[in-house]
Amino acid sequence: MEELKCLYSNQQIAERIDSLAEEISQWYNSQKEPVVLICILKGAFMFFADLVRRLNFSQQPEVDFIRIASYGNKDHSGEIVLSKDLETNIEDKHVLIVEDIIDTGNTLDFLIKKLKQRNPLSVKLCVLIDKKERKEKNIDVDFCGFEIEKGFVVGYGLDYAEKYRCLDGIYEVVFK
Ligand code: IMP
Ligand code: MG
Repeated sequence: MEELKCLYSNQQIAERIDSLAEEISQWYNSQKEPVVLICILKGAFMFFADLVRRLNFSQQPEVDFIRIASYGNKDHSGEIVLSKDLETNIEDKHVLIVEDIIDTGNTLDFLIKKLKQRNPLSVKLCVLIDKKERKEKNIDVDFCGFEIEKGFVVGYGLDYAEKYRCLDGIYEVVFK
């Protein structure tokens, strides 16, 4: 069985997203080329929906969705594949990837390399949670919601075995 311990309430998340949205808007408003906002399914869906509606862009960005599946187990870093690709051409556009959580960094390392092959003007990364302890890849997080040292978190889009995605706060799972 597992128990949940609240780390960030919906109110705290909303306040953090307000300042993230301001920071992001400021950078993109200094660019004049088109912008594509990319949501990584499924975990980032709630964060993405709340973030994009708070952006204050002088030009309207496009939005698109991508899904990554990784096959493997704990002892073997599995093969990562795109199980749903973008439908937008990102060549000569600024790309902002919006992800729920970065842990080892392997997933985002794969995705960023893949997207850069398509000749976007820039690729930046916004993550809701940067989990520090297990990093294997050195990934630049341009916009970060919260930093945690370790632990397994759920809620606000994030799951444990497909459970808890619909909770409106972020919780740490305490395994009993
Ligand atoms: P990475 O490739 O190790 O950085 O793993 C990133 C992916 O693992 C995330 O997109 C999540 O889907 C999943 N993940 C890692 N840590 C957690 C967690 O604490 N809660 C829920 N999902 C997690
Ligand atoms: Mg994910």
